[in-house]
Amino acid sequence: MATAAPVQGLVAVTGPTGFIGSHVVKTLRRAGIAVRAVVHPQSKKADQLTELRALGCDIASADVGDLGALERAFNGCASVVHLVAVIRERLGATFDLINRRGAAEVAAAARTAGVGRLVHLSALGAGPQAPRYLRSKWAGEEAIRRGGVPYVILRPSFVIGPGGGAATQLADVVRLGPWYLFHLLGAPRRPLVALAAVMPVVPVFGSGQYRSMPVDVRDLLEVVRQALTRHDILGEAYDLCGPDVLTYEALLDEVARALGVRRWKAHMPMGLSRALVREFRYLPNPPITQDEFEALLVDNVCQGTRSVQVFSLRLTPVREAIRHALHEGVRDG
Ligand SMILES: NC(=O)c1ccc[n+]([C@@H]2O[C@H](COP(=O)([O-])OP(=O)(O)OC[C@H]3O[C@@H](n4cnc5c(N)ncnc54)[C@H](OP(=O)(O)O)[C@@H]3O)[C@@H](O)[C@H]2O)c1
Repeated sequence: MATAAPVQGLVAVTGPTGFIGSHVVKTLRRAGIAVRAVVHPQSKKADQLTELRALGCDIASADVGDLGALERAFNGCASVVHLVAVIRERLGATFDLINRRGAAEVAAAARTAGVGRLVHLSALGAGPQAPRYLRSKWAGEEAIRRGGVPYVILRPSFVIGPGGGAATQLADVVRLGPWYLFHLLGAPRRPLVALAAVMPVVPVFGSGQYRSMPVDVRDLLEVVRQALTRHDILGEAYDLCGPDVLTYEALLDEVARALGVRRWKAHMPMGLSRALVREFRYLPNPPITQDEFEALLVDNVCQGTRSVQVFSLRLTPVREAIRHALHEGVRDG
């Protein structure tokens, strides 16, 4: 891996209680870097907040819609890593408000506070013609580009790591199969696991041939570290994928392999899948939303190896990434 200069100065991290945010904060703190964790004022994640304190973070509170609070949170910071986004819209937290306008407010506040660099997490496939979520991530990128602060935009595919994200969710899908839905509705887990063992089937939307290139969170963290230090990479957006192209079906197989279980796949016709996903909107915690479904069906793959070269990456194979996410994460702490 490329050696980079050490990260200088105080780094503000927005979304520090999230899946990627908690990894970013831990990595920075373990390297002895001063971190200001900019926490969502409405956060219900008391455990993560305690952990941020235990890691020695300076804590600030700011909603991404609150320019004044963001300016105060960024005051005295050399860099900002912006990780706030929603993939599921809620009342008062639409894609436009959080993913586009939130990014614009973060850029404006960083400029006012004299921040020297903004590292922004976008998503692979973000673009003006993409499905809604990815379109809002594109609008967020545009706000960062116009924001007047030197930036690096990173566009990862699905991120695989301990404590959340795609691996954790797919592990539940594989373990519980069709009963995953009942788990989300609040049914106790143990009888559902028993039912899944009797009927070891995982439902798959359509052919399951839509592809992705999941990336290990440790590879993303290396890129974030370089994004905070190198000058030659400023002002650009970098796609970031893992080394393996997998269909959704193959990804389920890899997760089942890591869990040591066998599962048959039950393919649902696409028409039925669409109708089912539409009905999920009536559930308080659906297994998948319409927006997630549309994004899932689009091939989520990188063209070429530019990021591998720019960041001198030795990418983690997906099998190792999933094994680490599901088995080693707890030991890593
Ligand atoms: N996970 C992936 O596979 C993946 C792939 C590609 C790109 N990305 C991008 O990477 C970034 C981080 O993703 P993630 O998976 O870590 O997301 P996440 O786990 O959902 O975390 C989102 C964070 O944003 C905070 N937040 C939500 N609304 C906020 C608001 N109004 N004001 C301030 N903070 C708010 C949340 O706080 P509370 O939860 O405490 O309320 C949480 O800390 C996002 O930009 C995402 O688009 C993720």
